Amino acid sequence: MFKGLFQTKKKTPKAELALDLTDIDLNNVPKHIAIIMDGNGRWAKAQGKVRTFGHQAGAETLKTIVRAADKLGVKVISAYAFSTENWKRPVTEVNFIMELLSRYLTSEIEEFNENNVQVRFIGSREGLPEIVKEKMDNAIEATKNNTGIILNLAINYGGQAEILQAVKDIAAKIEAGSLNVEDITNDVFENHLYTKGLPAPDLLIRPGGDLRISNFLLWQIAYAEIWTTDVYWPDFSPEHLLQAVSAYQGRERRFGGLVNKK
Ligand code: FPP
Repeated sequence: MFKGLFQTKKKTPKAELALDLTDIDLNNVPKHIAIIMDGNGRWAKAQGKVRTFGHQAGAETLKTIVRAADKLGVKVISAYAFSTENWKRPVTEVNFIMELLSRYLTSEIEEFNENNVQVRFIGSREGLPEIVKEKMDNAIEATKNNTGIILNLAINYGGQAEILQAVKDIAAKIEAGSLNVEDITNDVFENHLYTKGLPAPDLLIRPGGDLRISNFLLWQIAYAEIWTTDVYWPDFSPEHLLQAVSAYQGRERRFGGLVNKK
């Protein structure tokens, strides 16, 4: 059913990605960009196609955006591929996304390595098909020595579940006597999140027109700048990424302080 997906890319040489950096300050590029890849279903429907067609196109978009972000000097892209709530979708759609992930994590390894991309995952492994878990492990192992951009894929991820798990892990340590309540700092807490070791997102991008966080990186986006567009994710292009980064560079980040505030 999914034969051919991602399988043609080696036959056609990769087009050089041309980015117009006129409006971009390369010294102020967000280190970490989080993306809620929304609008796949509506994009497909608008063309009279089934929703899954949109997910397939969305996976292609992610590849292009990771390349563009890398070119810009972004260090981490966190992409919301499957949320803890997405299990509520029809089983055929869930299965399609799982199969898509599995194929993506097979077909893209070579390109990840060619482009020095390190793949990581956030989310719960519980409930994921064995094959997906295998491909995830394989992608981590195959790319672990890459030193370029980190593609941090959120699979079976929910921000509330992540925080709850961190609380439980910390509580267990207190109960065991290995941690004192007064020693719980932001750093300690962050070390119990899936994103341990990663910088917090500077910029959160949400295509698809909705103005929601949708349970994505709740703790981590505390001071992220948010940029939204009505464009559906499959139509999101490197130009949109540049627009988002340019808007980010026009913002004054105060982190609760008074920098330059009149
Ligand atoms: C939201 O669009 C998208 C998802 C729930 C899945 C995202 C999945 C992909 C982009 C493809 C899988 C990714 C990889 C890395 C292979 P929606 O279905 O909610 O769209 P809608 O709001 O228009 O219904």
